[in-house]
Amino acid sequence: LTSLSPRTDEVGALVFDIGSFSVRAGYAGEDCPKADFPTTVGLLAAEEGGGLELEGEKEKKGKIFHIDTNALHVPRDGAEVMSPLKNGMIEDWECFRAILDHTYSKHVKSEPNLHPVLMSEAPWNTRAKREKLTELMFEQYNIPAFFLCKTAVLTAFANGRSTGLVLDSGATHTTAIPVHDGYVLQQGIVKSPLAGDFISMQCRELFQEMAIDIIPPYMIAAKEPVREGAPPNWKKKEKLPQVSKSWHNYMCNEVIQDFQASVLQVSDSPYDEQVAAQMPTVHYEMPNGYNTDYGAERLRIPEGLFDPSNVKGLSGNTMLGVGHVVTTSIGMCDIDIRPGLYGSVIVTGGNTLLQGFTDRLNRELSQKTPPSMRLKLIASNSTMERKFSPWIGGSILASLGTFQQMWISKQEYEEGGKQCVERKCP
Ligand SMILES: Nc1ncnc2c1ncn2[C@@H]1O[C@H](COP(=O)(O)OP(=O)(O)OP(=O)(O)O)[C@@H](O)[C@H]1O
Ligand SMILES: [Mg+2]
Repeated sequence: LTSLSPRTDEVGALVFDIGSFSVRAGYAGEDCPKADFPTTVGLLAAEEGGGLELEGEKEKKGKIFHIDTNALHVPRDGAEVMSPLKNGMIEDWECFRAILDHTYSKHVKSEPNLHPVLMSEAPWNTRAKREKLTELMFEQYNIPAFFLCKTAVLTAFANGRSTGLVLDSGATHTTAIPVHDGYVLQQGIVKSPLAGDFISMQCRELFQEMAIDIIPPYMIAAKEPVREGAPPNWKKKEKLPQVSKSWHNYMCNEVIQDFQASVLQVSDSPYDEQVAAQMPTVHYEMPNGYNTDYGAERLRIPEGLFDPSNVKGLSGNTMLGVGHVVTTSIGMCDIDIRPGLYGSVIVTGGNTLLQGFTDRLNRELSQKTPPSMRLKLIASNSTMERKFSPWIGGSILASLGTFQQMWISKQEYEEGGKQCVERKCP
């Protein structure tokens, strides 16, 4: 390591935080990631020997990946969408590599062998996947040093803590992860599938009930302004390619996600129809020009996050609402550390940016916190910090002087093999 230290100090380390929704990547020491693009990629099964390579597209053994916002947004015959991740863990390594290649060549614009890499991982990542990733980074990318750190630990660091209960609500899941002295307490992890994607699905059903078509911008050639609630007046693009269902669906989801962020609001107390009916309405215009006001549904849809018992389509009442996810997790940890967890409930993830989310959580947790303990919710007001907290934590960690001895150096990897990740990155 001694031979490597001067190098890791001189050449910037890279930080990767690859979530189910987006890929965040950039240099350690900076305030926010250089790159933030969808983790979903377009995939075209290419014909044998087709050698074209366009902007943002990587071809691998008969497959062409369309990576990053621009390339993904181009409608093409038969291109499907896919994700390299499943349950927050790397599942498709070929697709994962294509994303890394793209990040190095189009965003970092530098050689992988020059930069140490700190990567985030899901707290439930498996040993086999961690070792495989370590091997990939050293063998294929030839990086000088590597470190893997759990997203929740990085989020705690980003908030200046080494102990706390991290409540992360992203796209695919909402989880409570207890962190103590910089380590995840595995036995206390509580996970619920009610997060951003679930809210998108509820919105989709709302549009169906209201007979509102979701027309993604790629289909629209022109539109005229129309009165509120009037049928939209728009012209479809001619000669559109035969796009796949999965790709069209992804484009619809982007429309829905914008609606979600602009219109929805979490009620401060359990949903009440009378209160919701008094709710100020919000005007929203779809890409095709259809526009109307939304009232009670603004509160009704996100209510399922906090009280899943009335959500249509959820079997039984077995799912936990966000408040219960937190208290259940703390309840599974040693009694001695519970005060430290209630004292630092760190809120992170894109879905927590829903208006009113933290107020409702604060209210629910206040009612459930044992009287002997003090509750403190830590939720940054900055959208960037809430979305990028694992990346920011990685950026801070990798630039600390005291951290430089923590890297797995290339030499250590060569001597100890991929198993060294278990010892160096617990
Ligand atoms: N301002 C906003 N208001 C409401 N929801 C938002 C907002 N911004 C992003 N989201 C939602 O947050 C989710 C993405 O969150 P985040 O970026 O934390 O996910 P991720 O870390 O990539 O995925 P995961 O944690 O599920 O692996 C999406 O469902 C998106 O629609
Ligand atoms: Mg996440």
